[in-house]
Amino acid sequence: MGETSLYPILPTFEKHALVNSMQYQEMYARSLRDPKNFWGGQADKLTWFKRYDEILTGGFKNLDAVWFPGGKLNACYNCLDRHLAAKGNQAALIWEGDSPDESKTITYHALYQEVCQLANALKKLHIKKGDAVAIYMPMIPEAVAAMLACARIGAVHTVVFGGFSSDALLMRMKETKCQVVITANAGMRGGKVIPLKHHVDEALEKETSVHHVIVVKRTEHVVAWQENRDHWYHEMIATESMQCPCDMMDSQDALFVLYTSGSTGKPKGILHTLAGYLVYVAVTYQYVFDYHENDIYWCTADMGWITGHSYTVYGPLCNGATTVIFEGVPHFPTPSRFWEIIDKHQVNVFYTAPTAIRALRREGDTWVTLTQRHSLRLLGSVGEPINPDVWEWYYRVVGDNRCPIVDTWWQTETGGILISPLPGATPLKPGSATRPFFGVVPEVVDDQGNAMPEGQMGKLVIKQPWPGMMQGIYGDRDRFVNDYFKAIPGCYFTGDDAKRDSDGYFWITGRNDDVIKVSGHRIGTGEIESAFIEHPAVSEVGVVAVPHAIKGESIYAFVTLKEHMLPSEKLKKELIQQVRHSIGAIATPDYIQWAEALPKTRSGKIMRRLLRKIANNDAAELGDTSTLADPQVINDLLSHRIAIL
Ligand code: WT7
Repeated sequence: MGETSLYPILPTFEKHALVNSMQYQEMYARSLRDPKNFWGGQADKLTWFKRYDEILTGGFKNLDAVWFPGGKLNACYNCLDRHLAAKGNQAALIWEGDSPDESKTITYHALYQEVCQLANALKKLHIKKGDAVAIYMPMIPEAVAAMLACARIGAVHTVVFGGFSSDALLMRMKETKCQVVITANAGMRGGKVIPLKHHVDEALEKETSVHHVIVVKRTEHVVAWQENRDHWYHEMIATESMQCPCDMMDSQDALFVLYTSGSTGKPKGILHTLAGYLVYVAVTYQYVFDYHENDIYWCTADMGWITGHSYTVYGPLCNGATTVIFEGVPHFPTPSRFWEIIDKHQVNVFYTAPTAIRALRREGDTWVTLTQRHSLRLLGSVGEPINPDVWEWYYRVVGDNRCPIVDTWWQTETGGILISPLPGATPLKPGSATRPFFGVVPEVVDDQGNAMPEGQMGKLVIKQPWPGMMQGIYGDRDRFVNDYFKAIPGCYFTGDDAKRDSDGYFWITGRNDDVIKVSGHRIGTGEIESAFIEHPAVSEVGVVAVPHAIKGESIYAFVTLKEHMLPSEKLKKELIQQVRHSIGAIATPDYIQWAEALPKTRSGKIMRRLLRKIANNDAAELGDTSTLADPQVINDLLSHRIAIL
């Protein structure tokens, strides 16, 4: 780490960025000295129907932090209506379809009209404030319209990633008691058809609260149809008025629920409320991506993840930016696609994930250098640690040594970016997310909560509330308290390991719980194990992560079969199918090792720590195995270990 090369602030940024390094120091100090006034000043960037009474009440002590109580506002108004006078004809969205021949531009005015129509249509289906609406869609403009239409009338959206299976969709719709789901007949990705409506139909074969399905006609594919339940999106909105009043919402009203994986079996519905979230994403978008008027900004994240919510939709639109949405995949039709899109739409700011950069780097530089990329000014990375050599490649080959990289660390729970360089203020070190954003107080601690000395690994916690923070787990206050505030009392527990170097830079190395990152997608090992167990042949299973050159991590499963069940290639395929069926293709295990038995404590708990060592061939590092009920198990597992590619 001491050897790390330092990339100084680029001269153009030193001059033209919103924040230079002196200003960062001053603003950061002020944000800690007087957080309320700092955030009060930032909150003035939004349009409020009624000003808040206070900036922050409560805090981490009693877990009762409320931002901007007494305020009234609307997220959709802040993203659309208030820009109409100055920017009605400016592009709000630039959509690039899966096929390079398909793209379109949607102005702020056009998006506003469509959102009003859809909001009116939702009202006609009796959706009112507080009701949950599921959104299970491809990356198309209608997905943004759907989120904003919900926000306009106070409905709570729960976006489900289009790559999730019908079972995963069902669980989310059931828990939030959705009455309406908005989908498309199909999605297109890399030339392949994703049968979204079919998945919805499958989910709705089971008992649910869903009464209506709104279907965007994305392609010409014919789908099954249930009269009275299913409605074409274009037919529904055609007859609706292009005006729809905004609900006057309270600061702490729910904006959305987004499910993400935790350590245990079931994903949790992270609840974000209106005012704090919106202020935070608007302000972080502005400073981290150094927003300037007329910027064309592109974040490649799917709307089904928090990055899509915060930095494809709410952050950019709240600032009046132009945001690109891309339906397809990086390799289709060729590995030049990302860079071609940058040239085609003259993208200035580009934000993607390390897994995509690794995959494209492997294809060779020519796919990049074939393109111009002159419009690029700033690059971003998110989702997992970025390896320094991958960072260097991104900087040198994609950015031509003239675009800073903002390596942004954050989580679904944090709502927005907590640790990141600011391009005009922070010299860069490849692989480090560098310094905290305004108002954020991270610390690296040991298990007792004592600060770790410089350079030593520990657990990353956040010591003070920030506006973007989750307000709970949907329907589960206990899990909220236990998962995030129990380990280190008084602090928000991130679940990540990190160290801080002598310059105060943070280096985040990954999770310290049973959450893994496959291609940047967050998956709980418990969730995958539950999926395996659903298969009648499986008795027990332990799932761990192993390193993967492109995906970052991949899934390794140890499976014990029931009495009289025999391992076979056929069974292996069935198990993989089972996991894909209950979660989705992103959770496909790469390795399945048949195990006579799993290492357990005397009280019968599976020792995943040992499984991780075995899968990674760290036999020498097994550590203390004295609590093992049967030490022989380890040798058996080691001798049948599958070599990792
Ligand atoms: C986990 C959160 C936040 C948007 C996308 C992921 C890992 C995220 C970084 C980064 C190192 C990172 C952490 C975190 N992570 N960004 N820049 N450097 N690790 O959101 O799916 O909720 O995952 O992603 O492990 O805890 P998420």
